[in-house]
Amino acid sequence: MIEEVATHEQLERCWAIRLEVFVEEQKVSEDEEIDAIDLLESTVHFLASRDGVDLGTARIVAEEAGRCHIGRVAVRKLARGTGVGRELMEEAARIAVERCPDSRGNLEIVISAQEHAIPFYESCGYVLVSGERYLDAGIWHRDMVAHFSRQ
Ligand code: COA
Repeated sequence: MIEEVATHEQLERCWAIRLEVFVEEQKVSEDEEIDAIDLLESTVHFLASRDGVDLGTARIVAEEAGRCHIGRVAVRKLARGTGVGRELMEEAARIAVERCPDSRGNLEIVISAQEHAIPFYESCGYVLVSGERYLDAGIWHRDMVAHFSRQ
């Protein structure tokens, strides 16, 4: 089940997953991980769970009409490879195209992908954009995009 976060309690559950995955596992600093963008009214968080167990999270960061980012995509180790990440990406894209399309109903979603996760995002329909790899929080990243249209 993928829920759009509506309460602070749900947001704290997303943070708990991100602390486990990004801070404990990937050694990102907590200060970098939990940022001011999390609390912007325009940021949309998602919480994935099965049988009452929280398993994953992601967020949409609005940039401008027709363009947004999906980021902080994290699935707990125990649930990886079971489709939770794909469900999060599909639900986030579905909501994003409803909320921030351009005047023609089109949306570009940008991902700042950790290099190891590129095949995952490719399987969700994203493609690498030209441009150099870059370090963020000490981890190599590449930008990826996909285009969506409101039905
Ligand atoms: N390498 C290659 N393919 C991968 C992959 C990997 N590391 N991880 C997932 N995939 C593929 C799966 O095989 C599947 O493909 P298929 O449907 O053709 O079989 C598809 O991607 C969807 O997999 P899914 O089970 O939904 O992915 P997941 O729930 O394991 O989530 C991550 C993927 C990357 C979100 C998860 O591994 C994770 O949280 N990693 C740690 C945090 C992280 O690095 N986040 C990304 C930050 S940019």
